[in-house]
Amino acid sequence: MPVSIKSENEIEKMRKAGKIVAMTLNLLEKAIKPGISTFDIDKIGEEYIRSQGAVPSFKGYNGYPASICVSINDEVVHGIPSKKRMLKDGDIVSLDVGAYIDGFHGDAARTFAVGTISDEAKRLIEVTEKSFYEGIKLAKEGNHLYEISAAIQAYAEAKGYSVVRDLTGHGIGKKLHEDPSIPNFKISKQRGLRLQAGMTLAIEPMINVGDYEVAWLDDEWTVVTDDGSLSAHYENTILITKEGCELLTLI
Ligand code: MF3
Ligand code: CO
Repeated sequence: MPVSIKSENEIEKMRKAGKIVAMTLNLLEKAIKPGISTFDIDKIGEEYIRSQGAVPSFKGYNGYPASICVSINDEVVHGIPSKKRMLKDGDIVSLDVGAYIDGFHGDAARTFAVGTISDEAKRLIEVTEKSFYEGIKLAKEGNHLYEISAAIQAYAEAKGYSVVRDLTGHGIGKKLHEDPSIPNFKISKQRGLRLQAGMTLAIEPMINVGDYEVAWLDDEWTVVTDDGSLSAHYENTILITKEGCELLTLI
């Protein structure tokens, strides 16, 4: 599929979806504390998204059973909320939120600390977030897609961490996942497509303390690090412009 270029009118709708995602993450950040179940996090998130007139993008997507992906410690992404799973002091928790309104999606993720966390966990969260910002320095009309990928990888690896290979970012718009696929690592000398103003992309580094290999749990969704090391996730939906990019899921 060709990469869609959004019109000004469509961009306005993407901003609206993105803002709801950002507000949901801000609300959920406040709810993160030892003792809360991952089910309750999902419930708070879903209720907020619906209160804004939007629909959770993930619920029912390829059969995913919840609205918010909640992934703890060595879980990389796509953790399924459960009444039996409680956050505890010292955990790190990645929340991934998608909202659909007026025909368009927004998608973003953050990793938060639960209570007091180790210095290594803090550093991982920081490096993951920074790797995103290093990547989007290259997000500008005329640049090539994999310049973003290479910058994310170079930063994360320089800090001693590894970049997950099996999952990537993606184009986003009328569909949650559109072309192009956006690796957070460089593929040989390929440059990727040339970026154009009006492209909307979900850039989402997933960074591990240990090796980059991941595995899937028997629930068919939860992705974990193969070596059991901690993993963090940071994602925003961005709009490519002539000057650079606009973050649609940050307020
Ligand atoms: N941000 C994630 C992604 O782009 C969320 C998808 S979860 C799913 O893959 F349940 F919807 F698949
Ligand atoms: Co995404």
